[in-house]
Amino acid sequence: MFEALKAIPQDPILAMMLSYREDTNPNKIDLGIGVYKNNQGHTPIMQAVQWAESRLLERETTKSYTAPAGSPLFNELVSKLVFGADHPALSDGRIVSAQTPGGCGALRMGAEFLRGCNSESRVWVSTPTWANHVPLLGGAGLEIVEYPYYDYENKSIQFDAMLDSLEGAKAGDFVLIHGCCHNPSGADLSREQWDAVADVLERKGLIPFVDMAYQGLGSGIDEDAYGVRMLAARMPEMLVATSCSKNFGLYRERTGTLFIVGANAEQTRNAGSQLFSKIRSHYSMPPSHGAAIVETILADEKLETLWLDELEGMRNRIQELRQGLVAKIAASDIEGDFSFIQQQFGMFSFLGITPEQVEALRTQHSIYMIDSSRMNVAGLNDQCMDYFVDALNKVLKGR
Ligand code: LMR
Repeated sequence: MFEALKAIPQDPILAMMLSYREDTNPNKIDLGIGVYKNNQGHTPIMQAVQWAESRLLERETTKSYTAPAGSPLFNELVSKLVFGADHPALSDGRIVSAQTPGGCGALRMGAEFLRGCNSESRVWVSTPTWANHVPLLGGAGLEIVEYPYYDYENKSIQFDAMLDSLEGAKAGDFVLIHGCCHNPSGADLSREQWDAVADVLERKGLIPFVDMAYQGLGSGIDEDAYGVRMLAARMPEMLVATSCSKNFGLYRERTGTLFIVGANAEQTRNAGSQLFSKIRSHYSMPPSHGAAIVETILADEKLETLWLDELEGMRNRIQELRQGLVAKIAASDIEGDFSFIQQQFGMFSFLGITPEQVEALRTQHSIYMIDSSRMNVAGLNDQCMDYFVDALNKVLKGR
């Protein structure tokens, strides 16, 4: 039966990660996959995570099953982190949560749930969006439609075009919005823009599905959650997918959360039962270790403060790298204005160079970024910054 199968090309982001690992050039730079790196080019385990893990080793008493929704304590603490402890949707019982295998698990189970609600509804995604959004959501059987988002020419959001396009959505369609740190562009909605999007969603009866994979890495935990919290207060129904991969550095532990916000407590409970049944039939229940780490941190004031400090350090360093890069490029004889990089948020920005130039950076200088020229700014550091700008200069001049 397998004789007829053809090999499928690997996901471009994961393929790039592997090519980088195989490159033996000591000067190689990885600006591909979205992982945070410190100034030594290493992705460390956060101290708060290490403390929590050693505590777990001492105190964990069982490895028995949890439940399709995962750990109730994790779900409660992460709900407060995402929505804010005093959010009325929480006190009104309008939010049900499921701990999921990473943000991907949350997106996929969200899509499975939505498909079960209405198989006719389409899901609108930004152009561009994270490469894995389409297979994750489309794989559940949802039809994907695109709305314009990033203007490559002006390096900013094409906001009017985005709103115009959403006017074409029909009631009951879902709209995927990046909560913060838009992946791949780094161009985030302002508060005024979030409010204007909510007006359209509300008026047209559209259901927001917010993907917030980078809370705390843009402007701050609360600042980054503005859109989610505002929508949960205004909209009767929505979904939110979050991830602990980046802000807790738990990438390989696959730790995320899916939230369903319903119109009232009863409808929310029913929606939750549908979701848990979908989870049971997909993977039964999520892996436990990452969530156990997160709940250990969030339940302990000292560990939480340590984690927040570390997260702030990461966020500030990314902003400093953005500023440093723009200053270095401006001081070189590279033509063009790259100042947009320091106005964007999170790990990613489009450098705005051609796929051929991206390839030349890779083949001639062992600098890895996605073909679209999406670069992970957090992959830069003091040691490699000059090498990077010099290589960019050479490639742009065709040398
Ligand atoms: C990325 O966009 O690089 C990250 O979200 C990692 C991934 O799984 O693609």
